[in-house]
Amino acid sequence: MNFLVSGGAGMIGSHLVGRLLAEGNRVTVIDDFSRGRIDYLPSDHCRLRIIEFDLRKDISILKHDISRYKFDCAVHLADNVAGIKYVFNNQLKVWTDNLAINSNFFALVDGVVDFVIYAGTACSYPKALQTKIAEKRLVEDDAYPAEPESSYGMSKLMGEYELALYADQGRFSATTLRFHNVFGTNTEFSGEGAQVIPALCYRAATANYEDPLTVWGSGKQRRGFIYVADVIDAIMTAIAKKPSEDVIQIGPESSTSIADISALIVDISEKKLRVDFDLSKPEGDFDRLGDYSRARSALSWSPKVSLIDGLETVYRWIERKVQYD
Ligand SMILES: NC(=O)c1ccc[n+]([C@@H]2O[C@H](COP(=O)([O-])OP(=O)(O)OC[C@H]3O[C@@H](n4cnc5c(N)ncnc54)[C@H](O)[C@@H]3O)[C@@H](O)[C@H]2O)c1
Repeated sequence: MNFLVSGGAGMIGSHLVGRLLAEGNRVTVIDDFSRGRIDYLPSDHCRLRIIEFDLRKDISILKHDISRYKFDCAVHLADNVAGIKYVFNNQLKVWTDNLAINSNFFALVDGVVDFVIYAGTACSYPKALQTKIAEKRLVEDDAYPAEPESSYGMSKLMGEYELALYADQGRFSATTLRFHNVFGTNTEFSGEGAQVIPALCYRAATANYEDPLTVWGSGKQRRGFIYVADVIDAIMTAIAKKPSEDVIQIGPESSTSIADISALIVDISEKKLRVDFDLSKPEGDFDRLGDYSRARSALSWSPKVSLIDGLETVYRWIERKVQYD
């Protein structure tokens, strides 16, 4: 089969591209390399084509090029996504970037593909449903009435909405996979663009033996972390099954506090790091948990990789990067 993957050089994208190629498919990646890296992708692969392009820009020449090929499926992963500090400091930019990227990508694949998978986010759920320990599991329809905490969550929800308009008008069939917090290798781990697990792994890997490991916020905030390989399984199953559901959320059965994540990372590092909590820093939503009945019924999907195995893999990858890059 022939695939078009936007954001294919990023964390989720590079793992997806690797899997698609390993299963004998052809893949075209569109990425501006603002966060993704060419070295996350297989080098000189004869079935891989890489187009460096900023999807916020005019797509007319790219559309002409893309229209010469027939794609079986497009997976839309490109967006402006990063750590919590970046998102809260750049709300307008995140909003305008993501709306432009989504509108341009959907217009690009209109008439070129039969099936589109869009990466949504659990950050799109209303803030009011995430302010205390999760008592009720969120279902897909809980995203409305919409009031996410950040422009990131809102812009991603508008992407779901725009995608559904294309699908409703019969331009292509489409599904949003709405991911909870994904972690894995092939990601930024230092600087304000890093998300919490790679950022903590990096701080632990570069800390001296008895340094403090500083965590943003109280550490009581909880997240549903899902390892990237499980996310790739969900995408591959959605490609195979083309589910009729417009949105399916993908995440772990339980949430974990950032304090517990930090303690696990300290154990993996085998250093005697003291964990400090910086209450002056933002900590985002307090907790959220998904109800994955739809993922089970539509995709027969449930996660397989344990949190500890995923953390160990990411920590060792960052440790090697720190030592050898
Ligand atoms: N990582 C998570 O925790 C998480 C959770 C929920 C949803 N998602 C969604 O999954 C998708 C992929 O996330 P990820 O973690 O792999 O992010 P990532 O930042 O690693 O990958 C995004 C890719 O998009 C590319 N990109 C950004 N702006 C672009 C532009 N203007 N034109 C072309 N390419 C551009 C980047 O270079 C990068 O390679 C995103 O849509 C994100 O919202 C991620």
